[in-house]
Amino acid sequence: MNVTLSVIKADIGGYVGHSSTHPDILSLAEESMAKAKIDGMLIDYHVTNCGDDLQLIMTHKLGEDNDRIHKMAWDTFEAGTKLARTLKLHGAGQDLLADSFSGNVKGMGPGVAEMEIEEREAETVLIFMADKTAAGAWNMPLYKMFADPFNTIGLVIAANMHAGFAFEMHDVKEHKKIVFKAPEEIYDMLVFAGAPGRYAVKAVYTRESREISAVSSTQRLSLMAGRYVGKDDPVCIVRAQGQFPAVGEVLEPFTTPHIVEGWMRGSHNGPLMPVSVAQANPSRFDGPPRVICLGFQIADGRLVGPRDMFDDPAFDECRRQAGWAADYLRKHGPFEPHRLPLDEMEYTTLPQVMRKLEGRFEEI
Ligand code: F6R
Ligand code: MG
Ligand code: MG
Repeated sequence: MNVTLSVIKADIGGYVGHSSTHPDILSLAEESMAKAKIDGMLIDYHVTNCGDDLQLIMTHKLGEDNDRIHKMAWDTFEAGTKLARTLKLHGAGQDLLADSFSGNVKGMGPGVAEMEIEEREAETVLIFMADKTAAGAWNMPLYKMFADPFNTIGLVIAANMHAGFAFEMHDVKEHKKIVFKAPEEIYDMLVFAGAPGRYAVKAVYTRESREISAVSSTQRLSLMAGRYVGKDDPVCIVRAQGQFPAVGEVLEPFTTPHIVEGWMRGSHNGPLMPVSVAQANPSRFDGPPRVICLGFQIADGRLVGPRDMFDDPAFDECRRQAGWAADYLRKHGPFEPHRLPLDEMEYTTLPQVMRKLEGRFEEI
C-alpha cells in the first residue's frame, strides 16, 4: 500500500517569548487534524511541538505536494495565528510570510518534509524536529547515518545496505541540486555537505532500488523573506530497519552535539542538544538549539506511536556535553565563532551599521 507521510511545521507564536508553544495552540491543531481525519482526508495524524514550532505529522493517500493537504495545514496555522493573537503570544503568525494560500505551502514560510512510500511489512520511521537552528543542521547526522561506517556498521556488515546510498544536495541560495553517490563520491560530497549554511541534504535514496530513505525540509526563511524573520527550525523524516539504518544507527549521530547556527536572534552558533519532547523548551539564552525525535511504526497509514526516542538516559552524557559546549561558546559573547560570520549577519543590523559609518572609513 502506498502512503504519504507529510510533516508540515510553522512557528505561529511563542509561549513564553520564543521558548515553547501554548497548550491551547496544540489543542486547536489537534481539533483541526481530527476534523480532517473524520472528513477522510487524513488517515492519521500526530500533533506536537519542538519549542515554539507547531508540528503537524500526517498520513494520507493524496501524494506529496498535495494542495488539499497543504491548504488544510495552512488553514490550521492561520486559525492558530488568530488564537495566538488573542493570547498575545510572542511573534504571532511569524512564519506565515504570505497573506493568503496559493496552492502549496512551499515558499510561503512553513517547513515541509514529505515522502510517499510503499509501506513495508514493518514500516519504521523516525521524525526529527529541531528548534533554533537552520536547514543544513541535518547534513552531518544524515552523512553519518547513511555514509559513515564508524556510525552505521550496517554499511559494512548488512548485505542489503552494502551498495550505499545516494544523497540529493540542494544549493539553497542558487536553487540548484546535485546527487552524490556514497561511498565513492564522499570526498566531493563533503566539500558541500560541510557548508550547511549554503548546501543542505534534501533527500537520501537507496542506491539499487532508488527507494526514498530520508527527506528533510530545506526552506530558508531569511532567503524567502529577504530579512531575518526567525530561524528555519527544520524537520527530517528517516526510514529505519531492513535496507535502511537500524533505529540505533539513525539516532547515534546525535550523541555528538554538533555545532549549528540559529541560537539567540538566529545569529549564534550553538550545540544541537537531543532532548525528550518535554525538554524541548529552549530558554537559556533562547537555546541552546534542540532536536527531538518521534518514532512510529506505520500500519496501513496508521501512526502507531509515537515513542519519544531521545527520552533515554543513554543521551544524558551528550546533553551534558552540549551544556559544556554551550558554556564555552557563550564565553565568546559577541565574538565569532559564537556569533555567526559577517556574511550570515546581512539580514540583521549589519547593513544599517555599515551605512551609518560609511563616510568614516579612511584608506590605510
Ligand atoms: C532565535 C529566536 C530568538 C529571538 C529573540 C528576539 O531563533 O527565535 O532568540 O530572535 O528572542 O526575539 P524578537 O525579535 O521576536 O523579540
Ligand atoms: Mg519564534
Ligand atoms: Mg522556532
